Amino acid sequence: MEVIRIPRVMQDTVRGELMRGRAIGLVPTMGALHEGHMHLVRMSRMENHLTAVSIFVNPTQFGPGEDLERYPRNVDEDIRKLREADVDFLLLPEEKAMYPEGFDTAVRAGSLGEKLCGRFRPGHFDGVATVVAKLLHLALPTRAYFGLKDYQQYLVIKKMVRDLNFPVEVVASPTVREEDGLAVSSRNRYLSAEARQAAPLIYRTLSEAARKLKEGAGPAEARKFMEDAFSGEPRVSSVEYAGVYHPETLEDLEEFRGKALLAAAVRLGEARLIDNVLL
Ligand code: PAJ
Repeated sequence: MEVIRIPRVMQDTVRGELMRGRAIGLVPTMGALHEGHMHLVRMSRMENHLTAVSIFVNPTQFGPGEDLERYPRNVDEDIRKLREADVDFLLLPEEKAMYPEGFDTAVRAGSLGEKLCGRFRPGHFDGVATVVAKLLHLALPTRAYFGLKDYQQYLVIKKMVRDLNFPVEVVASPTVREEDGLAVSSRNRYLSAEARQAAPLIYRTLSEAARKLKEGAGPAEARKFMEDAFSGEPRVSSVEYAGVYHPETLEDLEEFRGKALLAAAVRLGEARLIDNVLL
């Protein structure tokens, strides 16, 4: 595996590979790699000649008071995992290489970025869209891989790629879960032992609400069920949102006609956890 820190070197390297007719898969990450990330890597390995992973804790997608400083960083262990998975390139840029002095341009994520998590993290999806645009220009991938765990992020990126004509196929991967259903996440390490015990409630509740929808309950009833389940758990410190949404527009769903996104963002002590179920 070649570790590349300089954006220009990354572009020159992959351009050579593209000229030789190789398809490149890109897996953008913020590091602290876990099974969710490694699943994306394996998908990319299966579908492309070469796989590039990027690790960059992107400051522009963190709001004031969020966890940028304490976000887990573990580059040596990440490199070991990526070598073991036979990844070809690791793009590992420094912050000043991605955002040199005077950096002053951004991608606006549009209305999709203002819903759900966007209401509680203003500017977050603009930061995500901007850094992903840059990473796509650096790795020039044929396909780029994103997890459905961050469903809204996946939608925002698909929209950006379509609206701005990026020549890349955006591929989604299903959410990798712990045995008890909790979605694997770098932020799960913020959970206290007590909160960790309560955490499977999120997926259990979303799945149960999904089952109710399929059995004929309306979105309002499913929403009420979710609110009751979360407010009944004392270890849940707050519920940012929990609802049933249109899977393309993220608007509240009025009527279930076979397609729905059930999604929630819940605080358990220090940790903010998101999860979703797609019908
Ligand atoms: P990060 O949180 O490191 O996630 C990188 C990728 O892994 C994202 O596409 C995310 O959806 C996926 N992922 C995380 N947990 C997963 C799980 N349990 N199952 C399946 N996929 C999972 O998302 C980001 O980084 C950043 O916003 C980024 C896109 C890199 C831009 O900075």
